[in-house]
Amino acid sequence: MRILRTLSLVLCVATLGCSSNEPKEKTSASSQGAFAPVAEVLERRCIGCHAAGGKKGYDFRSFESLMAGGRSGPAVVPGGPANSLILRAVRGQGVRRMPPAGEPLSEEDIRKIEAWIADGAKK
Ligand code: HEC
Repeated sequence: MRILRTLSLVLCVATLGCSSNEPKEKTSASSQGAFAPVAEVLERRCIGCHAAGGKKGYDFRSFESLMAGGRSGPAVVPGGPANSLILRAVRGQGVRRMPPAGEPLSEEDIRKIEAWIADGAKK
């Protein structure tokens, strides 16, 4: 049995995706920690335009890609909701409102993002 496990591990590494073992990297919604409620909102409302090569360089598919920021700078300032671009964007404060068309985010969704940032934007 150990040989089989080793073999499948080697195969997995060899194919360099290992995607079935790393669902977390796939979409933001797979997050399990403090980030999970925010990931769900981003996945539902934002990643249609902000994935790989997303608008203005913002990719919201994972905690890491969100924290990497984009061409207008960081998307999130941990502990600083008022200075965080994603929150300003969903409220249309000083930047174009996001999403640019359709329903604005519900107050409930906005509060989830705000609370998460205020609490230090943890994974
Ligand atoms: C329909 C496509 C679309 C969706 C959905 C969308 N965005 Fe955007 N986003 C854009 C475009 C286009 C820009 C560039 C806007 C500009 O330069 O005026 C942008 C830019 C941004 C920026 C950078 C703002 C700046 O001034 O540089 C942020 C932050 C952002 N979006 C956050 C979000 C968030 C958060 C969501 C989900 C709540 C979201 N976007 C949903 C299309 C979208």
